Amino acid sequence: MQKPIVILGAGHQGNIAASIFELSCTRKIIFLDDNRARHNVSGKFLEYSSFNPEKHLFHVALGDNKQRKKWFEHLLSNDVTFISAIHPTAFISKNVSLGKNCMVGGFAFIHTNCIIGDNCIINTGAIIEHDCEIAHNVFVGPRATCAGEVTIKENAFIGMSASILNKVIIEKGCVIAAGAVVTRSTEVESRYFGIPARKRE
Ligand SMILES: CC(C)(COP(=O)(O)OP(=O)(O)OC[C@H]1O[C@@H](n2cnc3c(N)ncnc32)[C@H](O)[C@@H]1OP(=O)(O)O)[C@@H](O)C(=O)NCCC(=O)NCCS
Repeated sequence: MQKPIVILGAGHQGNIAASIFELSCTRKIIFLDDNRARHNVSGKFLEYSSFNPEKHLFHVALGDNKQRKKWFEHLLSNDVTFISAIHPTAFISKNVSLGKNCMVGGFAFIHTNCIIGDNCIINTGAIIEHDCEIAHNVFVGPRATCAGEVTIKENAFIGMSASILNKVIIEKGCVIAAGAVVTRSTEVESRYFGIPARKRE
């Protein structure tokens, strides 16, 4: 029998991941969430440890970068096996390195020589052009575009339809607002809005 998938997060991100798994495999899905009122929840997050790691796969599906990082690291230190949720319509070039516990949405493109870290969300229709480096725990919103050789450092959030020009470096923890066009590298933990993108306190 195929190992069931334990998904941490029964909100929108968990449901997106489940719908991707349903398209790509026939594994049973078990949802865990601290909000027991959510649909189909079998237990709280910490109850993941009651599932035999030899007999289950795990996926942390939390849209918030901080929460996703916290639970991913928790499970990582307990030696579970992660599964990434990759939509069947996503295109991922053969030489791309994709980390553990990633989500790649429908019609997303990840082109040649890209490196994607652990625990990243590359949303529906996002385009990651050639030779990009995306660190751990990054969120790339729907239809965001990274031109060639872009670097995105840990915990950054790229809003939907944002565009990042070639060779730009998005520093750790930055928030790029939806629709922004980032023409120059950013400062750590800063927020950028507009076209061209400008830092806003
Ligand atoms: C950048 C962002 C996180 C800021 O959120 P916030 O701090 O809650 O900002 P607010 O909604 O309070 O708005 C603050 C101001 O910025 C403006 N603003 C918000 N988002 C903006 C954007 N993307 N571009 C330009 N201006 C924006 C607001 O109009 C508001 O202006 P005002 O003070 O003149 O009224 C958010 O606006 C954003 O772009 N989120 C991305 C959403 C997304 O891609 N989600 C993906 C889900 S799958």
